[in-house]
This record gives sequence, C-alpha cells and structure tokens, in this order.
Amino acid sequence: MEDTFEIDILELSALVKMVREKYHFDLKEYALSSLSRRIKRILEMFNLSSIKLLANKIENDPVLFEKFLNEITVNTTEMFRDPLVWKHLRENVFPELAKLPEIRIWHSACSTGEEVYSMAIALREAGLDKKATLFASDINNDVIANAKAGKFPLRTMDHSLANYQKSGGTKKFADYYTAKGIDAYFDLSLIQNVTFKKFDLILGRQMEQFDLILCRNVLIYFNLPLQDQIIEKFAHCQNENAFLMTGARETIIWCKSADYYDVFSQDFKIFQRNQKQ
Ligand SMILES: C[S@@+](CC[C@H](N)C(=O)[O-])C[C@H]1O[C@@H](n2cnc3c(N)ncnc32)[C@H](O)[C@@H]1O
Repeated sequence: MEDTFEIDILELSALVKMVREKYHFDLKEYALSSLSRRIKRILEMFNLSSIKLLANKIENDPVLFEKFLNEITVNTTEMFRDPLVWKHLRENVFPELAKLPEIRIWHSACSTGEEVYSMAIALREAGLDKKATLFASDINNDVIANAKAGKFPLRTMDHSLANYQKSGGTKKFADYYTAKGIDAYFDLSLIQNVTFKKFDLILGRQMEQFDLILCRNVLIYFNLPLQDQIIEKFAHCQNENAFLMTGARETIIWCKSADYYDVFSQDFKIFQRNQKQ
C-alpha cells in the first residue's frame, strides 16, 4: 500500500465536507500532504480500502469519528514551548496576575499536558501557585489521561531543561520529576490545583471566567469563521484586563471578535481583554 496509495481528491473533499457539516470540524485547513498521510494511516488502521468507505463509517458512528479525530489532530507539544514566550509571561504577565486575589487559568487545548506542567512550575517559582486554579481541556480523552499521569519520555528532558532555562527557570529542573526506566514521572503535587476535562472548543458551551486563557497551536487548524467563534467564546468568559495567549505562529487579529482584545505583546501573541462588551 505504501507505494501504490494515491489519494482520491474527490473522495477526500467529500469526506472533508461531511466532517464539517456533521461534526463542525474543519479539516480543510490542514496541508494536503499531511492530511493525506494521516488519512492513509487511518485507512490502514481501520482496514478500509477507500476514503469513501471511511466517510460512510464515520458519518454514522460518532465513536469512530472520535478515533479518527484523535489520529488527525496533531498533539505535538513540549515543556516551555517557545521559551521566550514563557519568559515574557513570567516577567510581564505574572506581575499583573499577582495583583488579583485569585488567579484562574484555562489551558484550552492542553494535549498531553506539558503546557500545564510548565505553567504549574512557573507559578510555583513565582510564588503564585497557592492562589491559582487551573483548568486544562482538550477534545481528545487519551491526551488528557496522559496529562493527568504526568509521565513523559525521559529522552525529552534535555530539551525540556534547555527550554526551562531559556524561559528564565533557575532551579534544578530534574527536581520536578523522578526518572524511572524510560520515563520521567512529574511531581503530581504540581497539578493538585488542576481540573482536567474533555472540552471541544467548537461545540463546547462557554466556560466560567478566566484571568488567563492559553489557546496555543490549535487555532491554526480552524478556518477563520471557526477561529472567530472561538475567540468570541473566550471574550465572554474574560473580564477586562484578562489575558489570552495564542501560539507563536497564530494571531487573532483577522477575527471580528479581535475587537474584544487589545494587543498586550505582538511578539509573543498575548492579548488583553478590553472594555468592549
Ligand atoms: C498541537 S497541540 C497544542 C498543545 C499545546 N497547547 C501546545 O501549544 O503545545 C493541539 C491540541 O489541540 C487539540 N484540539 C484539536 N481540536 C480541538 C477542539 N476542537 N477542541 C479542543 N481541543 C482540540 C488536539 O487534540 C491537540 O491536543
């Protein structure tokens, strides 16, 4: 199959259309090459001979759709990803959050949890952990289970350490985990104030109020109307001066709902809720 497989573009666009109409998930923002590669792997996994058969199956089976989605969505993440963003967060956003009586943070696409553990470490080092409550959600149950377990491959720890140090971390990073076999088991006291929950950014109903929302490296998978809808949802769960962070390669400025936010840092893609209703 490896060499002979060719994507049937008509079948692929029918699948993309069905997924958008039935499940409100937009696949068309994915680069064709990466989408084709992933679909090919899914056909092999489900032992199906065509995209049309796959489309028929997932149209009638939301559980199968979830499995399909888990394969399609990119879960790539890392500790202190884009470390200079974290440095900016520690130096410029944390002092603002420190003025609040309590701090509520939402990781809205937390993947396997590295972003959440990074935040927990940074908050602890800033002495803000005791008054912070974190919510971490993702559309994918498997990655949430991984995040809760706090187990990450030991081989990624050199890179995590380098990111941590670039982010302004000065402690001994290895003190945050115990190495056992091929894995690093993070200190679960870091996540004692974290509630993990499955949440679909597109279909999920609006959450409570948050002082900081991280929506990093997921908006890129959605088209502009969907991005707009998500930012609008965020705006309704943030009070004036609350912060919103997107990924380094993302921005909200093309969305109509960007009117709800002022730019706090253009370089680090941090926005701040303004007074507009
Ligand atoms: C590339 S990861 C980003 C992880 C982390 N925020 C970071 O920047 O490193 C994207 C995550 O978005 C999640 N995702 C995709 N569609 C979603 C949706 N509709 N609602 C919530 N999460 C979604 C995926 O499951 C994946 O874990």
